[in-house]
Amino acid sequence: PNSPLVVFTPSGKRGRVPAGTTVLEAARRLGVDLDSVCGGRGICSRCQVAPAFGQFAKHGITSTEAALSDWNRVEARYAEKRGLAPGRRLGCQAQILADVVIDVPAESQLHRQVIRKAADARPVEMDPALRLCLVEVTPPDMHAPSGDLERLTEALRAQWGIEGVTISLPVLADLQTTLRAGNWTVTAALHRTSADAPPRITALWPGLLEGDLYGLAIDLGSTTIAAHLVSLRSGEVVASSGIMNPQIRFGEDLMSRVSYAMMNPGGAAEMTGAVREALTHLAQKIAATAGIDMDRILDLTIVGNPVMHHLLLGLDPVELGQAPFALATSEALNLPARNLGISALPEGAQIYLLPLIAGHVGADAAAVALSEAPDHSDELALIVDVGTNAEILLGNRHRVLACSSPTGPAFEGAQISSGQRAAPGAIEAIRIDPTTKEPRFRVIGSDLWSDDPGFAEATAQTGVTGLCGSGIIEAVAEMRMAGLLDSAGLIGSAAQTGSARMIPEGRTHAYLIHDGSASGGPVITVTQGDIRAIQLAKSALYAGARLLMDEMEVDAVDRVVLAGAFGAHISPLHALVLGMIPDVPVEDVTSAGNAAGTGARIALCSLAARRRVEALVRRITKVETAIEPRFQEHFVAASAIPHATAPFTQLRR
Ligand code: FES
Repeated sequence: PNSPLVVFTPSGKRGRVPAGTTVLEAARRLGVDLDSVCGGRGICSRCQVAPAFGQFAKHGITSTEAALSDWNRVEARYAEKRGLAPGRRLGCQAQILADVVIDVPAESQLHRQVIRKAADARPVEMDPALRLCLVEVTPPDMHAPSGDLERLTEALRAQWGIEGVTISLPVLADLQTTLRAGNWTVTAALHRTSADAPPRITALWPGLLEGDLYGLAIDLGSTTIAAHLVSLRSGEVVASSGIMNPQIRFGEDLMSRVSYAMMNPGGAAEMTGAVREALTHLAQKIAATAGIDMDRILDLTIVGNPVMHHLLLGLDPVELGQAPFALATSEALNLPARNLGISALPEGAQIYLLPLIAGHVGADAAAVALSEAPDHSDELALIVDVGTNAEILLGNRHRVLACSSPTGPAFEGAQISSGQRAAPGAIEAIRIDPTTKEPRFRVIGSDLWSDDPGFAEATAQTGVTGLCGSGIIEAVAEMRMAGLLDSAGLIGSAAQTGSARMIPEGRTHAYLIHDGSASGGPVITVTQGDIRAIQLAKSALYAGARLLMDEMEVDAVDRVVLAGAFGAHISPLHALVLGMIPDVPVEDVTSAGNAAGTGARIALCSLAARRRVEALVRRITKVETAIEPRFQEHFVAASAIPHATAPFTQLRR
């Protein structure tokens, strides 16, 4: 019999099929990833392929002519109505007549690889929890009575081979109207929680649904909530947005929110309500920005620290405020969005919450671990995500450890005399001339340095308002490098340093960075109290990292990754001069940006990634800093700048 050879690229899969087999059918038989929403009816165009005629002798293919059938009526109609790019065929219509090589372009692959932007980031393979299937349902018949749902599930079985389908109640409520509106043809969104779980119908549309489904990857921070709107077909981020966490009015940091819950009956519920409402607004805002209908947003992943996680779920966070910091659950969770009262989302939208690592180390750290994948490398990586608590991971292929360390809010500019949040007008970078001791700085909102011409005009709108987190870190490190500060952290006087910028402040001294008082602005200084606050924060961070290194029995790490919004802004050199992190060559300190958000996005695009992070979290060893006596020792030694005993190479320059 005539059985032409077909070779698919880029997968390289090949085999013989009976002449006349469609490309889509051949792909299915050979296990080739080729998308289809309409099930081969020639209307969705997801199955487009590019038959590559030519010389393919190496595959044993020599015939180049008429390897595929001519356009049939369906394909011709599609091409006429919607257009088909030159060289493209509908895989469900084109029949294989002779040996042929067929290229499956990226957009026709269901499990395509999405290349992440950072050069060293590994690609993510699309493996979304949702897929779309068009089905033709048999209309009801008086002589063979059966429910509309039973005929729909039977159609899914017969037309797609999908068994065991369930439906969520709100979707069932609309089923009859939708089936009739679509004249018995509907597109179903099928959601699975894992590759082998039976799917659930979470949305239905009359007729063929064109375009993509979307998901939201949410990083639920204690200060800000950030979201990416992601196409579940291409994996691309189509919009990003963020809002302040409204729980701030109950307490600036995590522990004050836990206290609020302890002290006020109903306090936890209030905070739960506030964050759920914020998520509703955020979803609406981001959908509006992207011009996407809310009914397309059907899957969500959420990461957050344990307190944020528990409050979102309506779990009392009180246990997280006291030893032994027991979580209600650390497991990954699958939930309907409706259960969390996120009312703007469609009825069927589903949420996946990443697992928590420990009572102080949340799903945000799990997401960082997923994104940075220390477990995929031989190199020993130290990954720090700095907030009011620093979450610290240390690991490689063989072992991954985690802890959190109570750095306090100083790194975010809080508890600093001239400190402020990162906002336009805040000093974010500063350099101090080692000879003249004169500072020059840059504020958020302008690229100019303070000694550049035009700086005053460029900052006329914002003014120079204070020091944000990266500003204070750079200021302290620069003061140390310029000799204005000794290794114990004492600020020198004008006489000791020869600089008129050292002004008396009680019994100590302060360094004057900017005097804006002439124009009604603030006087910005770094005081001895500020230095103490930074010393406490950085010692806690360093001691946490050191503790993990002790546990790993190493004296050095191969590289340091600074994660989080903070990590994105801090300069590696200044972090090293301050002794925030163990000494490594400055080029081995990199910033991962919002790695927690990236991890949430990876999990949104891939069920396999969800299994990966669950398995990784199970094997992470948790180290509890609070009960470890060596933490205190490390903390004390790390108070010096950069460190009392550990060698630091940076200050030798
Ligand atoms: Fe839908 Fe081919 S599978 S057009």
